[in-house]
Amino acid sequence: MTPGVLPIRVAVLGAGTVGAEVANQLLTRAADLEARVGAPLVLAGIAVRDLQAPRHPALPKELLTTDAESLVLGAHIVVELIGGVERARELVLMALESGADVVTGNKALLATHGAELFSAAERVGAQLNYEAAVGGAIPIIRPLRDSLAGDDVKRILGIVNGTTNFILDRMDEHDDTFEEALAEASRRGYAEADPTGDVSGADAAQKAALLAGLAFHTHVPLESVSVEGIERITPDQIRAGRETGHVVKLLAICERVTAADGTVGVSARVHPALLPRRHPLASVRGANNAVFVEAEFAGSLMFYGAGAGGPETSSAVLGDLVSAARRHVIGGPGLAAPPSSGLPVLDPGLVTSQYQISLTVRDEPGVLARLAGIVAERGVSIETAQQTRAGVGGTATLVIGTHRAPEAALAAVVTALGDALEVAAVAGVLRIEGE
Ligand code: HSE
Repeated sequence: MTPGVLPIRVAVLGAGTVGAEVANQLLTRAADLEARVGAPLVLAGIAVRDLQAPRHPALPKELLTTDAESLVLGAHIVVELIGGVERARELVLMALESGADVVTGNKALLATHGAELFSAAERVGAQLNYEAAVGGAIPIIRPLRDSLAGDDVKRILGIVNGTTNFILDRMDEHDDTFEEALAEASRRGYAEADPTGDVSGADAAQKAALLAGLAFHTHVPLESVSVEGIERITPDQIRAGRETGHVVKLLAICERVTAADGTVGVSARVHPALLPRRHPLASVRGANNAVFVEAEFAGSLMFYGAGAGGPETSSAVLGDLVSAARRHVIGGPGLAAPPSSGLPVLDPGLVTSQYQISLTVRDEPGVLARLAGIVAERGVSIETAQQTRAGVGGTATLVIGTHRAPEAALAAVVTALGDALEVAAVAGVLRIEGE
């Protein structure tokens, strides 16, 4: 033990995949961690709901407890890995109000109660670290909070959900349907038993809210993040994207933008998008994650790696833990990064995008001109139009690429095209990003 330095008591809440891994490393790598901190880290206990549930064999039974409150109140640092929102919120608030630092990987908790928890941490000078909440092992929270604190982030494009990236990658590589690719993701253990949170974009939206708040020094409520999932992506859309040199990715997009009405603010959104195959994010395959940051002075940066997994995520948690523990050795309050810019979150309808609209149309004289008129009347400019003869019942496939236009105008164009007599079906609509 480091002479003259009190041990730092660590409480781990939750013994799931990540909690068990963190607890195990605290026990087996104690000497290394002590050397990095300058004081011993002592695992005070592991809070669980059920003492009888099957556990990681290396976890000593005497460290398990169902009395999370007593464990929290006796700890210098609390590592919250129980997931869920309400119980986690109670315990994290209790920890912060007692002056303990908190490390959490709970994106749902921070995306819904972040403002309350960060202000509690600031009030008592405690640290609230959450590197594991976005992108698993990938360091992205600290780079945004600290390394880029003197720069101006302009835009973040993130692949922050491994399950959906795996599904879209399978659809691209193997021509799978969405259902086939989801079944494969489940078979390999990437998708949760209920994959709704992943495929609907909800998981990525929580991460987008956290990234946007940090990057633009403002509060981004989860409800302000617009979300579309990948459930309706078809093999035809993936193939059409391939033909125009694109790959379909589910992106979390956080931007500082000037809206069509001149308001400057933040846009945070999650949706599938066509990304040029030459874009660095296009090469992110399988269940990996990556976050591409465009900053005023640093230029483009990409952070890439495993977005989930016990050992991988434990790396981020232990990094946060060592960082919080060092503060106990040095003394002084935790670092706060309060939302200081006051930038508003913009109405999604005002944000501009580029669309690729695939239509099945009647192959007759004048159809192209009439449809072009529908687009133009709504103030949207066509960049490309490509027609291929489908040959079924005198129909053709028409793919219209637009210039940037406000979302509201683009949505009106899609509705009007869908209603046009010349259009048999709107086969798909995808935004184009990263051009
Ligand atoms: N379910 C998430 C994913 C991992 O598929 O990336 C945890 O956020």
